[in-house]
Amino acid sequence: MIRRAVIKGVGHYLPERVVPNSYFEDIVDTSDEWIRTRSGIERRHFAADGETTSQMATSAARAALENAGLAVDDIDAIIVATSTPDLTFPSVATMVQSELGMTQGFGFDVQAVCAGFVFALANANALILSEQVDRVLVIGSETFSRILDMSDRATCVLFGDGAGAVILEAQIGSGTVADRGILSADLNSDGRMRDMLYVDGGVSTTQTAGRLRMQGNPLFRQAVGKLTETAEKALQKVGLGDDDVDWIVPHQANIRIIQGTAKKMGVPMDRVVLTLQDHGNTSAASIPLALSVGCADGKIKRGDLIVTEAIGGGLAWGAVVLRW
Ligand code: UT7
Repeated sequence: MIRRAVIKGVGHYLPERVVPNSYFEDIVDTSDEWIRTRSGIERRHFAADGETTSQMATSAARAALENAGLAVDDIDAIIVATSTPDLTFPSVATMVQSELGMTQGFGFDVQAVCAGFVFALANANALILSEQVDRVLVIGSETFSRILDMSDRATCVLFGDGAGAVILEAQIGSGTVADRGILSADLNSDGRMRDMLYVDGGVSTTQTAGRLRMQGNPLFRQAVGKLTETAEKALQKVGLGDDDVDWIVPHQANIRIIQGTAKKMGVPMDRVVLTLQDHGNTSAASIPLALSVGCADGKIKRGDLIVTEAIGGGLAWGAVVLRW
């Protein structure tokens, strides 16, 4: 008998404003056709003026609490994965804590860019397994629209805003892969590739928030191999293989990366949750958004074996294997 961190609830929030690909045809030299075929994105949501990462995170958290049938008093900790916080500090997590009216426990942020939610899940799992907490709210929330260079066609068409949240709860399992909950994680980074995706401003350098810069093609060429390797490593850690996977819930950056990874793993595309056509790349929010939409659509069901995998700035990449 061992402790497991089991998903107890899931929810998401998307800003009201939907921005179709055609919007960018008026501001840069691009086309709906190029964006669809090269990335798979058709539309994305942009936050309203004044709408913040912490507000979206709070809305997603409320949806997850409702889905779990839990109250804020039941939560011991909040971890927010984000690279677009409201302020340099305090953390978005403490802002969510106060917005929810939570006066116990603790909150902190995790910054691993697009892989942030995978890193946050692994940290929440460690807190639960080490018996420091029983229930953790894990949120991915981003307002990437605020750091886009709207004159750079290679990046401005790719990203969107949104938030997703899950609640992890300590439950006792048998110690086998039949247990519900997080079964394994694999985390990686390699700072030598930090110039492939970064923001050109920050507190200790420019004292500005900066704008996103990306070498899309070199990053693309890293992605499929690293994502396949981390997903398979996480599966192998608990004696599972590609054939055991019910759903890949990938970071939603590019349909060709998602297809390439699924193909290498031998998992058919109808076993992959896809949201990028509607959300674009929402960085750390993309996996919890996809988990929430995948559940609401009736795809992900209790007992399903799920692999989440992501890569982004750092480079940082990783995977989590869990049974829903
Ligand atoms: O979330 C973090 C992880 N992010 C990623 O993993 C993103 C990885 N990269 C990608 O998804 C792809 O590299 C992109 C979608 C960004 C680009 O696709 P690509 O097939 O790698 O294209 P490319 O960068 O090699 O560019 C091909 C052409 C270039 O023109 P030339 O040099 O061939 O004349 C670009 O200038 O497409 C041009 N281009 C565009 N054309 C129309 C770049 N952006 C656009 C655009 N509209 N928006």
